[in-house]
Amino acid sequence: MRKALLGAVFAASLGVGAADAATIKVGVIAPFSGPFAMFGQTFKEGIAIYQAEHGKTVGGDTVEFVFRDLDQANPAQSKALAQELIVKERVSFLAGFTFTPDAMAVAPLIDEANIPAVIFNAATSAITEKSPRYVRTSFTLWQNTVPLANHIAKLGVKKAITAVSDYGPGIDGETAFKATFEKAGGAVVDTIRMPLKSNDFAPFMQRIKDSGAEAVYAFLPAGPTTLAFAKAFTDNGLKEKGIQFFGPGDITQEPDLPALGDAVLGMTTSFHYSQAHESAANKSFLAKYKELFGSSDNATFTSVGAYDGVHLIYTMIAKTGGKIDGLKAVEAVKGMSWESPRGPVTIDPDSRHIRQTVYLRTVERVNGKLQNTEKASFADQPDFGYKVGK
Ligand code: PHB
Repeated sequence: MRKALLGAVFAASLGVGAADAATIKVGVIAPFSGPFAMFGQTFKEGIAIYQAEHGKTVGGDTVEFVFRDLDQANPAQSKALAQELIVKERVSFLAGFTFTPDAMAVAPLIDEANIPAVIFNAATSAITEKSPRYVRTSFTLWQNTVPLANHIAKLGVKKAITAVSDYGPGIDGETAFKATFEKAGGAVVDTIRMPLKSNDFAPFMQRIKDSGAEAVYAFLPAGPTTLAFAKAFTDNGLKEKGIQFFGPGDITQEPDLPALGDAVLGMTTSFHYSQAHESAANKSFLAKYKELFGSSDNATFTSVGAYDGVHLIYTMIAKTGGKIDGLKAVEAVKGMSWESPRGPVTIDPDSRHIRQTVYLRTVERVNGKLQNTEKASFADQPDFGYKVGK
């Protein structure tokens, strides 16, 4: 059965990019329902903005996006959806991917079909090592954590604790934080790994309090999980006790800021995109957001991950004349640089991950609205986690 299916995948790949192809399909796998639906929605918004600006055709071929809902981390289902997209829809690209296990699961399929997979979010360093056909336009935990850990050490914090979701990106965040903070002279007094589906954070808050740490570094997937964690931090008196709260910007992403409210006011995070980023490219991105969707309040790192991901897909199509050979397509964007709404970016030719500026941002209330105000920047940051330990 498996062999027959893979055979079909291979046969489908032969049809991909045939000279007469008038429609090039991109299969997007992401949560479009459930608690993480904001990921799928913002991917869709980023795609729509790019297509509104650049049109729906490249070199005479129409680019069509086909969406499949995967509401949570579920690698078996991700693989099944990818297989259906490749075999039945005959997609020339896979894209999207919110959760690391879902991105990792499709490696054998993209290799068999020889199509690229453009990752709009999943942020564990090891993903791009699993296939030469992955390209990533989001971030990695290593990329955002190294500058943050150095910053925390520079503030004079001596004792820190980590609290992360117990899977790929959380473990990368913990490892990156510990390695960097300890190198800078600090001590990590405890490392807490929380089940991905935790919603009661009180026991973890007690452990943080008991640890004697002056600061906590936390990573949880953006959305309801971070809301519950940030609320527990305040409700359990950690803020009052003077424990400082840091993490990558997933915790304070713009669509969640109104619900987080004062719980995160003054919090410093490190990240690659802020809606408040001052640049012409971001202004025009936000203007298009408002024009198409009535408001740019949802503009966040995942909208920009998708927007830049479509830029790569369009470039791959243009540079390969619409004949999608996965390896050649990926080769065509290695080393490519452009100005993203987040700032200047480059596709690193070795890791196929996006090099970018990482910003330290502080949550402030400006004209009544919470925002991530950029305070410092670190240009051209690579994925510090690529091939670490190999
Ligand atoms: C991931 O699973 O890689 C992931 C999910 C949500 C995030 C960041 C990373 O906010």
